[in-house]
Amino acid sequence: MSPEFLSNDEVIQQARRNMAQPAWDYLVGGSESETTMRRNRLGFDSLAFRPRVLVDVSNIDLTTTLLDHNLRMPVILAPVGGLIRFNPDGGIAAAQAASEFGTLQAVSQVAGHRPADIAAATSDPKVFQLYVHGDWEWIAAALDDVKSAGFRGLCLTVDSARSSRRERPMIHGSSQPRGSSPFDGPDQAALTWDTMDRIRDYANLPFYLKGIATAEDAKLAVEHGVDVIWVSNHGGRQLDQGQSTIEMLPKIVEAVGGKAQIVLDGGVVRGADVVKAIALGADAVAIGKLQGWGLGAGGKEGLLKTLEILEDEVLRVMALLGVPSMDRLDPTYVTEGQPVTQPHEMSAWVNMPEDRIL
Ligand SMILES: Cc1cc2nc3c(=O)[nH]c(=O)nc-3n(C[C@H](O)[C@H](O)[C@H](O)COP(=O)(O)O)c2cc1C
Repeated sequence: MSPEFLSNDEVIQQARRNMAQPAWDYLVGGSESETTMRRNRLGFDSLAFRPRVLVDVSNIDLTTTLLDHNLRMPVILAPVGGLIRFNPDGGIAAAQAASEFGTLQAVSQVAGHRPADIAAATSDPKVFQLYVHGDWEWIAAALDDVKSAGFRGLCLTVDSARSSRRERPMIHGSSQPRGSSPFDGPDQAALTWDTMDRIRDYANLPFYLKGIATAEDAKLAVEHGVDVIWVSNHGGRQLDQGQSTIEMLPKIVEAVGGKAQIVLDGGVVRGADVVKAIALGADAVAIGKLQGWGLGAGGKEGLLKTLEILEDEVLRVMALLGVPSMDRLDPTYVTEGQPVTQPHEMSAWVNMPEDRIL
């Protein structure tokens, strides 16, 4: 393991060297044409900064809070399934990296470990992300486990009524056989706002609703008492041909009107992306693929280094933009800009061999 990475493109290249093709395809592939995934990048690339000068930026404060979690910078770990496929210590390593760095981990129900083991990996509070793969009895038992393991928040993912067509693993023969995915059972598909209310009430934990992609649903989520609205299109892994998340953010922020906090994910790989999302009204962003690349490159140390590089980027952007703290960012710091690259999951780096690694 080399913690000597200078840039996160080196992290990605190391992750590729370490990872077998099926795990790699699972990590980097989106659904169908991967248009949603590419648009997530295009959305960030279509925003330009409007820097202010002669502002004292000799001390920059990146800290922020999400509900009662103190974050070293407004970047958290998105729930990612199959983490053990990227590194044998997977979700445990992610928990340790989050703790050492000073951020929050959302733990996927399908991370590949017993949730209680990840919860016990560090003493920091964590959020559990639930998929519904059973009837109410199944849900209640899952929530009982979540509570007794000590999770301090519940995240319900609602953009996955069915499994999607992810064609990279299909072509390489590593996707699940047809019909065997728990997502293609009736339970996840039958979720409604009523079920969500019931789950939230039973759990009685700070509640995150993940997969909100319209102002209409954001408004409903507020009416239903959701604490954190998680703007996400699942990194372009579920519905293809969707809008980028950063593009949907301003209307969602307006609809929420400060009545809930907002997390955004989808295409966040650079400090500039973090700053743009916070300027447009997110309280924090989450990383999915970048987290997987960090773990794939070097387990806990790899992910820690990935976060440190990201933090260095955020700090430099803030200084050059003339903003001394995250709470001073607002929409006036960004404007429309012409993208200059063809977007894809690695297009934020200029040093990628042959444009990107397959
Ligand atoms: C390999 C992988 C597995 C994922 N598994 C889950 C999951 O189990 N639950 C969930 O809510 N989202 C899951 N996601 C979606 C992420 O939580 C997040 O929404 C997405 O990765 C953000 O986009 P990004 O990868 O461009 O950062 C997964 C994403 C990846 C890359």
